[in-house]
Amino acid sequence: MPSLNWIGKEKIVNHDKEVPFRLLKKVEKYSLGKDSENLIIEGDNLEALKALIPYYVGQVKCIYIDPPYNTGNESWVYNDNVNAPKIKEWFKKEVKIDDLTRHDKWLCMMYPRLKLLRDLLRDDGVIFISIDDNEHCHLKIIMDEIFGSENFLANFMWKRKKEISNDSKNVSIQGEYVVSYSKTQGVSLALEELSEEYIKTSYSDPTKEFPLGKWRPVPLTVSKGLSGGGYTYKIKAPAGKIHERIWAYPENSFKNLLEQKRVYFGKDKNGIPQRVIYDFESKGKPTTNFWDNIATNKEGKKEIIDIFGDNLFDTPKPVELIKKMIKLSTDKDSLVLDSFAGSGTTADAVMQLNKEEEGSNRKFILIELEKEIAQKITSERVRIVSKNLNGHFSYEVLSDPLFNANGTITEEVSYNVFAQYIYFTETHTNLNTKEIANPKIGEHNESEYYLIYKKPKENLLDKSFLKNVKKSKIQKVVYADKNTLSDETLRAYGIIFKQIPYEVKVY
Ligand SMILES: C[S@@+](CC[C@H](N)C(=O)[O-])C[C@H]1O[C@@H](n2cnc3c(N)ncnc32)[C@H](O)[C@@H]1O
Repeated sequence: MPSLNWIGKEKIVNHDKEVPFRLLKKVEKYSLGKDSENLIIEGDNLEALKALIPYYVGQVKCIYIDPPYNTGNESWVYNDNVNAPKIKEWFKKEVKIDDLTRHDKWLCMMYPRLKLLRDLLRDDGVIFISIDDNEHCHLKIIMDEIFGSENFLANFMWKRKKEISNDSKNVSIQGEYVVSYSKTQGVSLALEELSEEYIKTSYSDPTKEFPLGKWRPVPLTVSKGLSGGGYTYKIKAPAGKIHERIWAYPENSFKNLLEQKRVYFGKDKNGIPQRVIYDFESKGKPTTNFWDNIATNKEGKKEIIDIFGDNLFDTPKPVELIKKMIKLSTDKDSLVLDSFAGSGTTADAVMQLNKEEEGSNRKFILIELEKEIAQKITSERVRIVSKNLNGHFSYEVLSDPLFNANGTITEEVSYNVFAQYIYFTETHTNLNTKEIANPKIGEHNESEYYLIYKKPKENLLDKSFLKNVKKSKIQKVVYADKNTLSDETLRAYGIIFKQIPYEVKVY
């Protein structure tokens, strides 16, 4: 498969693994409601995504991101703390149109973030990425690399403005893309509701041959994307012509359709057979990859003015656009993540959908780098629209890394947070904090996990620990600062001692 190379690639392909793990800290003052599962995180998404990993790995159903498009006018800064001299030179310089390495920098910025986003997705999760011509092709190639080309869903083309205006090459750029991938193969998007308009234009009125309602023919032949399979046999049309192709159904199923009078051979009764679908039995229609009929950027700007009374944010997306993606990819209680939050349109879309669909309780996680934006626009928007939509959120900031510069555990790490982290590094699954019963953290695949931590004096694995466990072969992994039990005792109890901090894995 073709791959893309650029300056700095080899230094950043595994950078996601080197990013220090930081803790999230709630700021009550900026939060709304108690114990909300919705999060607005202020900080760089590279570190914020990493901080989410131990708690949300494999749990996000829909990711929408709207990163800098790298137009040369946005003045975004590349300052990820990559441990390589060449890349360090790039630090804290604005990426402008005449910067010859601007594509390299953009790719270095995106690559580790996309890897973390992929880890956070559920197996049946879907990611949508807004992008324009500046980076679309580069993005497509690195997405093929990170997500796998077999998981590509579509390049949606969104008509972002209706007006015609020419650029320097006399082209009117009215569209941009939404690139979308699933985490694994076999994931499909939801069907869209059939509108009256769609039924009017796409379905024929009842006829003598198909009298049960409005109907339309759909191909019986196998379409692209089939990897093997398909059925080859001959079908004779009523007017005599023989058709032999690869059909989507086995011969028996075809005969059933024929008996039920559900096959259309065209007006001359000699055409390639097609299956007849009535509007009342159709569950919906597939989304088109051409989104030319939904709200544009203009509506996005108007929404901001309606909320704040002022044009506070330059590039907001319209709520309808993000709602469409959420509807195509989530269930009623799914988790939606946006790590380039801007004005918080994604949270607005999630809350509006929850209000519109009875019994739905989708949750959102938003990340915004700029403090000013996060406090005064992202969370303020959510606060304002929450009045009508029963919203709530917890405002979080990133605190110190779990391990400080000497490699020891930061003082402020609570027992439960550390326990979750250890459980995650051991099992790669998340732990419900309610299951933690100090010193036992939890169980997984016939192993038990323990953490001796935050003791008044020393975190010791000693005789007193044995009260908690039975002598058995079940493996017990115990994290503590020191061990005073003999090798014999450890063996008898099936205990594996792991010393803090040296044997705590860095994710
Ligand atoms: C194009 S805007 C997103 C607009 C958003 N979709 C909306 O509808 O308002 C991109 C946002 O991502 C933020 N951003 C850029 N780099 C970031 C990073 N490394 N971490 C988190 N946010 C970042 C920018 O501050 C900006 O607000």
